[in-house]
Amino acid sequence: MAPILSGKRIVLGVSGGIAAYKAVTLASRLTQANALVDVIMTHSAAKFVAPVTFQGITQRSVATDTFEFWHDAGRLRIGHVALAHAADLFIIAPATAHTIARLALGLSDDLLSITALSYKGPMLLAPAMETNMWTHPATMGNVQTLRDWGVDFIGPEEGRLASGEVGEGRVAEPEDIFEVACKVIGRGGPLDGLRVVITAGGTREPIDPVRFMGNHSTGKMGAALARAARDLGAETVLVHAPLAVPPPGGVSLVPVHTAQQMYAAVMEELPQTDVLIGAAAVADYRPSDSVNYKLKKSPQQQVISLERTPDILHEVGRQRGEASPGPQLVIGFAAETNDLEANAVDKLERKNLDLVVLNDVSAPDSGFAVDTNRVTLFERDGNREAWPLMSKDEVAQAIMQRIVARLGRLDWKRSQPKAEDGSIESR
Ligand code: CTP
Repeated sequence: MAPILSGKRIVLGVSGGIAAYKAVTLASRLTQANALVDVIMTHSAAKFVAPVTFQGITQRSVATDTFEFWHDAGRLRIGHVALAHAADLFIIAPATAHTIARLALGLSDDLLSITALSYKGPMLLAPAMETNMWTHPATMGNVQTLRDWGVDFIGPEEGRLASGEVGEGRVAEPEDIFEVACKVIGRGGPLDGLRVVITAGGTREPIDPVRFMGNHSTGKMGAALARAARDLGAETVLVHAPLAVPPPGGVSLVPVHTAQQMYAAVMEELPQTDVLIGAAAVADYRPSDSVNYKLKKSPQQQVISLERTPDILHEVGRQRGEASPGPQLVIGFAAETNDLEANAVDKLERKNLDLVVLNDVSAPDSGFAVDTNRVTLFERDGNREAWPLMSKDEVAQAIMQRIVARLGRLDWKRSQPKAEDGSIESR
């Protein structure tokens, strides 16, 4: 779930291309996140997908006509003015070359372009067109103009196009557009201007080119934390070992495999990091003589000797004690099966952390690969808090709120200019 979208007014512009069908999935995803989605279709889009499809999905009227009026608090208002003023975010997906050109020229010859011209808030475009149209200097110039005005773009991607050819021009996937929409709407939030670095996933320590030592971590918790940080406006970096879940969109991804690589990546990020969260299951040991050829079986017993890997959070904690101040907050996870509290407190102190999130990984609803977590927070000042069973997304969001509180940003006022009059009701 993405609470950042809950109750938000989103105008979803759909322009005419075969990719219009993907906008249906996007509208559904946004609606399920409790956003109020007003779809505006161009006349050619309505030839690809019937407006009633969007109407059914969003449970709201779909607009195509510039001369339609909207009811607002008992009075009629001009549709485009009402929509543009009410919106928190304007998405156009798919955005055709023609629509992009019209926006860049400031044309206002249909409901979509006239509403876009009347709108002042964040805008996200997901272009879709043939490769030659996308790479044409006219389109490139128009895209640059829009970028210079602060418009965000996602895609297009490489893939199979309407013509049957394969190339750049395919609209981004609805899920990816959804993720970036969360980021765009979250800008200026309480973590604005901060860089949050999160480690996630289970590291893999090679034995030979085909085998590794690993663990059961899926990276779900780390990915949820990255989404939650992103949605509060943080510049978010996810340093991740292989994930069993899709990586979040709208965050910088730094893929690694081993503990050593994760250590190096975190150390490189450290000087620019404001908040560091260690949610990765980092191997404590690696095979000391990993070989670069495939080991063959033999009748003899095999012994793999192990050596220690670097402890990333421990090293960060040690450096904090030295001259450089380091991140403002360093947070660790303690995944335990026994002596839960003693282990959590030990990690808090030994690694010089501000907060440890303890979870009992032997409990069926609170460990690897499940969607829920039951955690207890241990803070540096001795504060302890046991939270009820929550989804990993909810745990992540609650941890972010704690970070916001600890950084003294609870009363943060969004700096992003919001279009006036968010109260208007749709027809
Ligand atoms: N951690 C780390 N680098 C390591 C090991 C752990 O940064 N080499 C981080 C984890 O990401 C987590 C915290 O330290 O935030 C605790 O990890 P955990 O595996 O529970 O504890 P360990 O320090 O490895 O101690 P032990 O294995 O003895 O429980």
